[in-house]
Amino acid sequence: MVQKACIFDLDGVITDTAHYHFLAWQRLAHSLGLPFDEDDNHRLKGVGRMESLDYILAKGTTAYSMDERLALAQQKNEDYKTLIGGITPADILPGIVEALDWLKANNWRIGLASASRNAPQVLASLEITGAFDYVADAGAIPKGKPAPDIFLDVARAFGLPSSQCLGVEDAASGVAAIKAADMFAAGIGDADILAQADIVLPSPEGLVEKVLKPF
Ligand code: BG6
Ligand code: MG
Repeated sequence: MVQKACIFDLDGVITDTAHYHFLAWQRLAHSLGLPFDEDDNHRLKGVGRMESLDYILAKGTTAYSMDERLALAQQKNEDYKTLIGGITPADILPGIVEALDWLKANNWRIGLASASRNAPQVLASLEITGAFDYVADAGAIPKGKPAPDIFLDVARAFGLPSSQCLGVEDAASGVAAIKAADMFAAGIGDADILAQADIVLPSPEGLVEKVLKPF
């Protein structure tokens, strides 16, 4: 049998941390007198920490030095870490454990391609670190989503061609990254926002039957 790999995004796919990123960014934006709404949140899904900060700061006219920007990013991250402090395995989204079990039983490689530097901590809190054969190090990959680099990094680690890899994403930038990597893209969420995906499910429920088995 030909080896296949499933490469997951984390925030918004495996657990609903996308909401905590939203709350922490909104709090920072409002503290600076800048607007931040659900539309901004969709744009920032999958986007790295400093790029997200710069998107928010561009809504105002104040120029910030590098040190000030780093301090603001750190402030958001401290807030975010407080918000995710109470995460437990009960926060794994429905359908994910079933998908991980099915992948393992069918000898797929299982990878993580999250832009978050907090990913190892979140996986540990969810108690699913051991389910992953490879976790990409976001800090070591300069070009973030929508660049394909992080998905290609996982494929390279598995020694697999893109044609044997399937990516799962909740962000438009993430789906774009999967397609730029020439992989099959399963979107989780709104079909209009994730129009570039090969298939879109409203939630991870149904991944096994509708996405994994047919691939
Ligand atoms: C992505 C999230 O997974 O990680 C983004 O979708 C977030 O919202 C990015 O900004 C970076 O995360 P972190 O935890 O390194 O600040
Ligand atoms: Mg995501």
